[in-house]
Amino acid sequence: MARITLTRYLIEQQRKQNITADRRLLIEVVARAIKSISVAVSRGAIAGVLGEAGSDNVQGEAQKQLDVIANETLLEANEWGGHLAAMASEEMDQPYVIPTDYPKGGYLLLFDPLDGSSNIDVNISVGTIFSVLRAPDSGAAADEKSFLQAGRTQLAAGYAVYGPATMLVLTVGDGVQGFTLDRETGGFVLTHADMRVPEETREYSINASNRRFWEAPVQRYIEELEAGKSGPRGKDYNMRWVASMVADVHRILTRGGVFMYPKDNKDPGKAGKLRLMYEANPMAMIIEQAGGAATTGRERILDIEPDKLHQRVPVILGSRAEVERVTAYHKV
Ligand code: AHG
Ligand code: MN
Ligand code: MN
Repeated sequence: MARITLTRYLIEQQRKQNITADRRLLIEVVARAIKSISVAVSRGAIAGVLGEAGSDNVQGEAQKQLDVIANETLLEANEWGGHLAAMASEEMDQPYVIPTDYPKGGYLLLFDPLDGSSNIDVNISVGTIFSVLRAPDSGAAADEKSFLQAGRTQLAAGYAVYGPATMLVLTVGDGVQGFTLDRETGGFVLTHADMRVPEETREYSINASNRRFWEAPVQRYIEELEAGKSGPRGKDYNMRWVASMVADVHRILTRGGVFMYPKDNKDPGKAGKLRLMYEANPMAMIIEQAGGAATTGRERILDIEPDKLHQRVPVILGSRAEVERVTAYHKV
């Protein structure tokens, strides 16, 4: 059977009227940028792209050279195509409005250009996360407010994981498809059709060094997993933490499990570590489209009405029954 490429998948989605031609173009352009980021990531020290950029981003985090390169790659690829009104990124304080020399389109693109930056210099998987929203039809130029839409309104979401193979995992609201980059032909090939989060799991993913800062419901849930066979869950669990959300979520999408970056009291000024608009929302849409669930412990992530572009949220996502259990523990 002929290989199904990303282009073919998107054209078929367009025929099914799940996406419009300009949304198809938008995703193709993002995929093209992902290919260039994949090349930069894989060349590593040879290309001189490792190490610090010498600047801080809006979150006060030191930027790595690859954070900056990946951000610029996505901006440059997407600014001239005519499909976007503006872009927003973890690495930019304010939204990037499409320059007046280019036509403006009806969509907004948000991204975490390089997720898992702390892993770059140690040659562990990193990724890119993106989310597509409709630009509000206000007649005015897009600004921060235009982006403040609940995650359930996302039109598409995806991530790339730059691992042993580069993969692009995508949803346009019709299930989740995984494509692998064929480095010989430069094309994305559909290798993981209709991905589903397995329901049965023996794995969980949490940065346990924060244990003393967690709330009681999370302490309880993790203690029960750790108790293994002799505890209330009656089986042994395994823990995995890559510290690249893309890699941890990709594992859960592939073989089940639960990922948590819960609310903690480490820094009372921060509701969580992960950012709602370009980390939690796109991952929550993918996980829900794959039959899983995503909450903060208290509410469905996709129902949060955002009030800031860079706001942080607690994240609990993965196999539905596990997420429901932790969420229920927050209610008692
Ligand atoms: P980013 O590199 O985009 O800032 O995101 C890093 C995030 C996420 O990928 C990961 O799950 C988490 O931070 C790891 O946090 P710890 O270093 O606290 O484990
Ligand atoms: Mn990130
Ligand atoms: Mn990042």
